[in-house]
Amino acid sequence: MFISTINIMYEFYYFLSVSFRFSKIALNMIDMNNEEKDPFPINEKEVMDYYGYSGGFGRFKMKIKFLRNWVLHSLAYSSPLSNFSVRMQRSRGVKIGKNCHVNPYVLIDLIYPRMVEIGNNVTLGSHSMIFAHINPSANLFLKNGDYPRKVSKVIIKSGAVINPGVVVIAGVTIGENSIISPRSVVTQDIPDYCIAVGNPARVVKKINH
Ligand SMILES: CC(C)(COP(=O)(O)OP(=O)(O)OC[C@H]1O[C@@H](n2cnc3c(N)ncnc32)[C@H](O)[C@@H]1OP(=O)(O)O)[C@@H](O)C(=O)NCCC(=O)NCCS
Repeated sequence: MFISTINIMYEFYYFLSVSFRFSKIALNMIDMNNEEKDPFPINEKEVMDYYGYSGGFGRFKMKIKFLRNWVLHSLAYSSPLSNFSVRMQRSRGVKIGKNCHVNPYVLIDLIYPRMVEIGNNVTLGSHSMIFAHINPSANLFLKNGDYPRKVSKVIIKSGAVINPGVVVIAGVTIGENSIISPRSVVTQDIPDYCIAVGNPARVVKKINH
């Protein structure tokens, strides 16, 4: 009994060491193919520069900022109470007007909330996502080439209805009283009083009433 337990333990140890060796080889191969190093310090520096932080204390302040931001986002994200979500999003820095309705599971840019401006009486449906930046975070080849980090404002004008599952990408303005259909991806500005549908969202109607 004792011997067989030892055998099993040995076999388990052997299995772990072989798996470990294989995973190291696999990681090295990925490294060789990717030729990229850890992009984290570069991403961190970009965000610190944006917020005007520097040095060790700056890094600490930024971490505190993100912790606070994450807590407020999580509270807004999971709350079924629109007014509470609005308050949490405003505390993060999102500019939100009066009488807006924010459903649960709305994601508003996690790093640049101040770059999102929302007018009055706007509806944000569940699982809608609003991004104010573009960044191929883990790929230095792309970041150092044609796809560097880009931060640009998103404006959602008064009365707009952002239906569930809509994705709004950085730099876009959505017009007054316009409706974006569920699961559309808004990649370009949408004028006032329009119905826009699909991926990419295209205007299919004007609202004339
Ligand atoms: C977006 C909306 C307001 C447009 O209403 P409408 O002015 O009556 O226009 P229609 O519904 O006829 O849609 C216009 C066109 O867009 C298409 N369309 C509508 N929603 C679409 C979507 N999510 N993706 C792709 N196309 C869509 C329609 O099929 C129609 O195409 P067609 O002209 O080729 O037939 C309406 O479709 C709607 O309310 N959708 C549901 C919203 C929703 O589910 N909200 C849930 C939370 S309250």
